[in-house]
Amino acid sequence: APSDPDLVARARAAKEKLGDKVFVLGHHYQRDEVIQFADVTGDSFKLAQQAAARPEAEYIVFCGVHFMAESADILTTDDQRVVLPDLAAGCSMADMATAEQVAECWDVLTEAGIADAVVPVSYMNSSADIKAFTGKHGGTICTSSNAKRALEWAFEQGEKVLFLPDQHLGRNTAVRDMGMSLDDCVLYNPHKPNGGLTAEQLRDAKMILWRGHCSVHGRFSLDSVNDVRERIPGVNVLVHPECKHEVVESADYVGSTEYIIKALDAAPAGSKWAIGTELNLVRRLAKQHPDKEVVFLDKTVCFCSTMNRIDLPHLVWALESLADGKLINQISVDRETEDFAKLALERMLALP
Ligand code: 13P
Ligand code: SF4
Repeated sequence: APSDPDLVARARAAKEKLGDKVFVLGHHYQRDEVIQFADVTGDSFKLAQQAAARPEAEYIVFCGVHFMAESADILTTDDQRVVLPDLAAGCSMADMATAEQVAECWDVLTEAGIADAVVPVSYMNSSADIKAFTGKHGGTICTSSNAKRALEWAFEQGEKVLFLPDQHLGRNTAVRDMGMSLDDCVLYNPHKPNGGLTAEQLRDAKMILWRGHCSVHGRFSLDSVNDVRERIPGVNVLVHPECKHEVVESADYVGSTEYIIKALDAAPAGSKWAIGTELNLVRRLAKQHPDKEVVFLDKTVCFCSTMNRIDLPHLVWALESLADGKLINQISVDRETEDFAKLALERMLALP
């Protein structure tokens, strides 16, 4: 539906009043009504870089989810304020690894006598606490656009990697990009004693994968791929690496949201694409490429419900409040967490 013209005018007026004081970041999964007000759009990696590159902006309004706003707070200066227009915009995957569970996991690895050989690599989609744990134990953050480089770096530092919280990105990167086998990976289940693994299994593994996943990308299955190939002969299947291993293995192309956008830009007219990622992005791509056939990989509708919490009314409220001098919905990471989390994030930003 087209956005409410009154709200559009209000957002525009508030943004104009704020001028250079505000910088609006928008993740590719955001609604069109929100994306139109973003100064920069990007995948998680690009947005982290952009947040760090705007020291002159007093307010960063993050149209995305909580872990992204936390990362922006960690990477910006102490004088800058990061605002998340709806505090309920979390991420179910990030919630699958808590600080207590990860501390317990480290105890299990220590008991098994392998903690010294393990380098943690944490996906951007994790809380600041998990990023701090990662920094403290010599590890790095990664995103879907640099996971391979992060793993290469990690295996130069140690023999094993603890990858959290997304088992699929970890497995897909290890097997598809690094030439490891599925047998090199074990799955650590935080809800079972010792992660459901024996000390021997832990000692034999190269990749210890945390049992987390994205509920949006988890919906795509091998059937979705087979169905679309049958329905649309000659279709190119392009999926995000948060998808299950068998989906990624059967796809033609795999990459982050920014990669997906670039692939469509480079595609010839008349080509056909089935895309396995969040629906706001797929619908926008279909609109932007009327000369190509662009369809959602699944038959059912599937938005990321927490990304969608940020809508135009929330954005207007955030911008108008800031324009009136009222700081609302600030995301602020405490100093100690920030210091260690920053270490891990900076290792990622320094990856070759
Ligand atoms: P990217 O934009 O980095 O590909 O991440 C996708 C995602 O799920 C963000 O929540
Ligand atoms: Fe989290 Fe998945 Fe939504 Fe991204 S798409 S914010 S990983 S639930």
